[in-house]
Amino acid sequence: MKIYHTGVLRPSRRNIAKSAELILRGDPIAVPTETVYGLAVNAYNPEAIQTIFAIKGRPQDNPLIVHISSMEMFKELTTADYPIIQRLAEAFWPGALTMVLPKSARVPDEVTAGLDTVAIRYPSNPIINLLIQEAGVPLAAPSANQSGRPSPTLAKHVYHDLAGKVPIILDGLKATIGVESTVIAVSPSKVKLLRPGAITIPMLEEVCGEVEVDEAVFHQVEEGKPTVSPGMKYKHYSPKAQIVLVKGSLEQFANYVNARLEDRVFALVFNGEEEALECISFCYGGNGKERARDLFLYLRKMDDFKAKTVYVRCPPAEGLDLAVYNRLLRASGFDVRDASKDS
Ligand code: TXA
Ligand code: MG
Repeated sequence: MKIYHTGVLRPSRRNIAKSAELILRGDPIAVPTETVYGLAVNAYNPEAIQTIFAIKGRPQDNPLIVHISSMEMFKELTTADYPIIQRLAEAFWPGALTMVLPKSARVPDEVTAGLDTVAIRYPSNPIINLLIQEAGVPLAAPSANQSGRPSPTLAKHVYHDLAGKVPIILDGLKATIGVESTVIAVSPSKVKLLRPGAITIPMLEEVCGEVEVDEAVFHQVEEGKPTVSPGMKYKHYSPKAQIVLVKGSLEQFANYVNARLEDRVFALVFNGEEEALECISFCYGGNGKERARDLFLYLRKMDDFKAKTVYVRCPPAEGLDLAVYNRLLRASGFDVRDASKDS
């Protein structure tokens, strides 16, 4: 693997131009998006794409999202042009929506891990948009974390995971959304949710009618089993501490945790609830938007504190909180306790 002297750089016009030049030479660049930071390469360069899997330690069968900055680029990537796509693009692009569609012949198999579909997103963050325009090619970009770690929402998270492995990290300050994009599989008659994000089910249903939810959103997919959403079968977003998701009222949660105090036990609760806990506790937000924005930051912080166990107040599985809940299910390895039954 190539070794770089990693620079965390301001997203000045010159630094973006330099980054585009490196992309066209086959190098990766870490770039902010409105969801999380991405590790970007030229989507048309198979060797560059392969380096992404090596850098991240990413399983080979987990395909990448291709990022575009115009609908002309979109047409290069897919053979599909049914009306529902146009409606979704008009409603949510640029933004945190990824559409999985039949791939065109131009998309290398390395991007799609051999699948005949490609995941496409038109992000709204101006820094990645300008980078795509300068490079003049779509960018394949997974989240810029070491595989199995929480996605990065700050440039310093990327530096922590990938220093020496990328030449440039463009610093776009804190990611506004904080969880990865909503991923949907789109066919002429049906939209299926593969990964929840900031574009919520009610938002999608307003544009395209009923949305089917893939079982992988709520359940563990067995390794080795074929699935429409390969990324969902891996233990994801996972800090070193044991994460335990606890359902129930605040009182039930507090009783449950306070009965299990040990060394290096922490709690993540909603705003204003810290005082109910006898261990060190942090609030990770007062609503879905705040919890989405800060969840990964707190999971990383738990590692800094060498937490052994982290009890997390379970958010409701709806709206933007559905994305938070989905990430916590995976971070905990589906370890969900019901404090109303079990005390
Ligand atoms: O917000 C985001 O989506 C961020 C930023 C950087 O854009 N990217 C991101 O990429 O989260 P990654 O690689 O961490 O997650 C991509 C997800 C994985 O779950 C993968 O399995 C799924 O998208 N995916 C990609 N191509 C697919 C395809 N052809 N069919 C089904 N799922 C696909
Ligand atoms: Mg990821």
